[in-house]
Amino acid sequence: MAISKYVKMTLLSATIALMSNAYATTTLKLSHNQNKSHPVHKALQFFAERTNELSKGDLKVRVYSDAQLGNQRESLELVQKGALALAKSNAAELEAFTKDYGVYNLPYLFKSKTQYHNVLRSDVGQKILASSEKNGFLGLAYLDAGARSFYADKAIKSPADLVGLKVRVQPSPTAVNMVKALGGNPTPLAYGELYTALQQKVVDAAENNIPSYTLSRHSEVSKIFSADEHTMVPDVLVISSKVWNELSDENKKAISQAAKEATEKMFALWEKSESDEKQKAIAQGVKFENVDKALFKQAVEPMYKELQQKEPEFYKLVEKIQAVE
Ligand code: GCU
Repeated sequence: MAISKYVKMTLLSATIALMSNAYATTTLKLSHNQNKSHPVHKALQFFAERTNELSKGDLKVRVYSDAQLGNQRESLELVQKGALALAKSNAAELEAFTKDYGVYNLPYLFKSKTQYHNVLRSDVGQKILASSEKNGFLGLAYLDAGARSFYADKAIKSPADLVGLKVRVQPSPTAVNMVKALGGNPTPLAYGELYTALQQKVVDAAENNIPSYTLSRHSEVSKIFSADEHTMVPDVLVISSKVWNELSDENKKAISQAAKEATEKMFALWEKSESDEKQKAIAQGVKFENVDKALFKQAVEPMYKELQQKEPEFYKLVEKIQAVE
């Protein structure tokens, strides 16, 4: 029986579909919780462009901002299952998933901004990124997220000013311990819920870097930023282990290179955003207070002593970081 023209056409289009599938672009979705004006979004867009270029069009990264695909925790759980390829998280959120990230949540860990940047580029920094593989994801790159400080509708010039205050923290055991050591009442809450929590006085204070403070409009409801700079907690771009293992070696290389470039790009984006956002906030009536950091450092010193005694293995990581110049 002669094959009808219809069947021939169907076979032909099925063949074309199969052929084009062999060369199809793989689209990887990337979730993050900042808005499009935040440097995080700009750095991730840059990462997406470079991944596409370096993979010669094999890979396309689509960036979803504003926690559209879920908050950081939800996104990470999707990544672990392989239902989402990429997510931007940070070392505070990741501490609950893989302990080594917790080291970045220790207050006054770094001597300077330069040392912090060098740690992110160092072997010890890279080992922490690799440490989560068995937990279903791999760290691809760090993104600078500056220093975090307290803000409220009163100045927090010393730990005594935190006594009796409900302070929003990220869901990190170390951040909880830090606020306790400083005398406040830690209240873990998702980032997206914080504006309303501050506005309705569910919490009295919070802590973050300057761009997140202003671009999430927390500066409208908490007008005094006390620059104690207690932590430098990097953001982390992660990829699902399941997705990673399915990539060709060339594409793995392309993604890793794009991620490395994104780290460097973010150092510059961050510096500019921090100074621009500070100026904007001042123009909007925010008051920046300088504080005596020594008082804060002294109050958290027992955290280090306790770690040294109770978790000597983990404390070695602290020492390795401190040894970076
Ligand atoms: C920073 C960080 C985010 C994090 C947020 C928070 O803005 O970049 O990853 O979610 O702090 O305080 O939750």
